[in-house]
Amino acid sequence: MNFTFDTVANLIFETGAANRLGDIIKNRMQRPCIVTDKGVIGAGLIGDALASLKKAGLDYFLFDGVEADPPAKVVRNAVTAAKDHGSDGVIGFGGGSSMDTAKVIAVLLNSAQSLDEIYGTNMVRGDRAPLVLLPTTAGTGSEVTNISIITSDDDLKMGIVAPQLYADVAILDAALTLSMPRHVTSATGIDAMVHAIEAFTNKLYKNPISDALATKALALLSRNIQHACDEPGDTKAREAMLLGALLAGQAFSNSPCAAVHAMAYPLGVHFHVPHGLANSLMLAPVLRHNMPVAERLYAELGPVIGTAQNANAFLEKMLSICAATGVTNRLSDVGVSHNVLPKLAEDAIKVERLMKCNPREVTYDDALRLYTEVL
Ligand SMILES: NC(=O)c1ccc[n+]([C@@H]2O[C@H](COP(=O)([O-])OP(=O)(O)OC[C@H]3O[C@@H](n4cnc5c(N)ncnc54)[C@H](O)[C@@H]3O)[C@@H](O)[C@H]2O)c1
Ligand SMILES: [Fe+2]
Repeated sequence: MNFTFDTVANLIFETGAANRLGDIIKNRMQRPCIVTDKGVIGAGLIGDALASLKKAGLDYFLFDGVEADPPAKVVRNAVTAAKDHGSDGVIGFGGGSSMDTAKVIAVLLNSAQSLDEIYGTNMVRGDRAPLVLLPTTAGTGSEVTNISIITSDDDLKMGIVAPQLYADVAILDAALTLSMPRHVTSATGIDAMVHAIEAFTNKLYKNPISDALATKALALLSRNIQHACDEPGDTKAREAMLLGALLAGQAFSNSPCAAVHAMAYPLGVHFHVPHGLANSLMLAPVLRHNMPVAERLYAELGPVIGTAQNANAFLEKMLSICAATGVTNRLSDVGVSHNVLPKLAEDAIKVERLMKCNPREVTYDDALRLYTEVL
C-alpha cells in the first residue's frame, strides 16, 4: 500500500480566535491583504478581526470584492489591488470563494506567472507569500486543501492544484459560522458530506488516513447538520460542523472528489447554483450510477450515518438528511431546462481531474442521462 498525505501544518481550532487575529499573524506579515466578500462584511463578521490587526500595528488592505465561484477577472483585480497596496501576506476570510481567491493572490503576489499559467496540477512555480485562512462556512474545507477553484474566462471551473496552496495557518473559529442563514448552512454542510463520500470512494487515491478522516467527518456532519439549520446559534453544533468540514477537507485534499463535483460545476457556472446545492442535486444520480462498482464502500458508510450496513440504506439516509434541511432535488427548481442538458454534460466530462477519480466511468451519454434523471 503506497500513499502520500499532506495537510496544513498549523491549525488553530478555537471559538473566538478571530478576535486575536492580529496577534496570531503579526510575526508572519506586516501589510496583509485581507480577502472577503460583501456578504461576510454585511453579516458583521470581520470588524473585531480588523480591530485586532490595527491593534497589532498591521497596515492592512481590505479587498471585499470576491464573488461566488470566483471569476478570473475578479481574481486578477484582487491581485493587482494587493500589489498596489504593497501587501506582504494574504488572509482569506470567508467561504470557499474568499479563501480560494486569497490562495491565488498569495501565489501570484510575487510571481512572474499569470493566472492562466497556473491552472491545472503542479503548474505553480516558486514560493508564495505568507497565507492564513479563516473559514466562515462549514464548508468547503478550502482552509486545508491544496486547491483553488476559479471560473475561467471561457466559463469553466478550473482547478489550481499545487502544494503552495496549503496555507501556513488555518484558524477555525466557529463563532464566525453562527450567522450563516439556513440555505448556506445546508448547502455548505452537504458539500462537506460529499467531500467525505467522494474521498472515501476515490478510485485512484483512496488511502487509510483519508478514510479515517472521511468517516469521522461524515459522522459529525450527518449528526449535526439538521440541528445547525434549526438552531443556528448553537455553538456546539456549529463547532461539530466546522470540525467535520475540516476533516473532510483534509481527506479530499489527498483523495480528491469525483463525478458529483464534476457534474455540479457546470450548474454553478451556467446557473449560479450555489456549490453545495449543486452537489446535493447531483448526489443521488451519481451514487446510483456508481452503485454496481461502489456498493461495498457505500454499505460501509451506512453505519457511519446511523443506518444499516447496506448501500441502498446509505443512499436513502443521505437523501433524507439532505431533504430535511430543505434543499430541492430537482434541476428545474434552479432554472435548468431540458435544452441545456447537452451543454452541461459536455462541460462535466471535461473535468477530467475529478472524473478520473470516480469509481465508475461517466461518459457523455451517462452524464446526459444523470442530469435528465433529476430534471
Ligand atoms: N478549494 C477547495 O478545496 C474547495 C472545495 C470545495 C469548494 N470550493 C469552492 O468554494 C466556493 C464555494 O464556497 P462556499 O460554499 O463556502 O460559499 P461562498 O464562499 O461562495 O459563500 C456563499 C455565500 O455565503 C455568504 N457567507 C459566508 N459565510 C457567511 C456567514 N458566516 N454568515 C453569513 N453569510 C455568509 C457569502 O457572503 C456568500 O454570499 C465555490 O467556488 C467552490 O467551487 C473550493
Ligand atoms: Fe465541494
